[in-house]
Amino acid sequence: MIQPDASIVILTGAGMSAESGVPTFRGVDGLWEGHRIEDVASPGGFARDPDLVHRFYNLRRAALNHVEPNAGHLALARLESEWRGRFLLVTQNVDDLHERAGSEKLIHMHGELRKARCEGCGAVMSWTQDLASGTRCRACGEIGGMRPHIVWFGEFPFEMDVILAALKRADLFLCIGTSGVVYPAAGFAQIAAERPNCHLIEMNLESTAISRQFHEHIVGPAAIELPKLVERLLAKR
Ligand code: OAD
Repeated sequence: MIQPDASIVILTGAGMSAESGVPTFRGVDGLWEGHRIEDVASPGGFARDPDLVHRFYNLRRAALNHVEPNAGHLALARLESEWRGRFLLVTQNVDDLHERAGSEKLIHMHGELRKARCEGCGAVMSWTQDLASGTRCRACGEIGGMRPHIVWFGEFPFEMDVILAALKRADLFLCIGTSGVVYPAAGFAQIAAERPNCHLIEMNLESTAISRQFHEHIVGPAAIELPKLVERLLAKR
């Protein structure tokens, strides 16, 4: 049974934003919008062809102007504001739909499309325009060091210490819309499961690489199923 002051950790993946119109990653062709993942999402790919990588993320950043949070994002923001216990929302998504829905206790472990970083001075800044090889850093004024504030393959996700500490004290771990193939996020269920009596729920359209680790499976679209689950959790107050 989940107590009304339980500590909740939630992990979201691309399926969370699917009904808002943001495409998921792993299509049947193994390509990411026509590109090999290593070409557009690795430090090596960026070094080989920075203009291709900038174009790729510029398109994705611009597409955020045409999407809105769905009922699932809104339900998670409501859960955060009304829940008595500890709460942490961790997303692998680089869109900003959780914060637009009102979520605040939120970690973007794979970075954010609407931020840019200077590899010269290290400054991280909000960024809604296009980036290019010739973009000047707003902090140090140098040209040539700007990149998307995105975690690429081979790089460390952000705020792992905070995430691991929260997982180790979680009473409920809820995993929504992720295929469970990209680590370290794919290992979070196993960490949460080490805590006695932590309840693990997976919400997805289908079974995944990590489904067997969960106690409860909710099969269906997040925008439909999450409002119902949040209602059920808040009814315990
Ligand atoms: P994937 O595209 O691998 O998986 C999306 C998951 O969402 C699949 O399991 C779908 O079945 C499920 N799904 C789709 N629509 C859904 C819906 N409406 N409701 C619920 N579930 C739905 O995306 P991720 O697992 O998020 O990393 O991918 C993880 C990481 O791989 C990404 O963060 C990205 C990528 O490479 C980086 O960019 C570093």
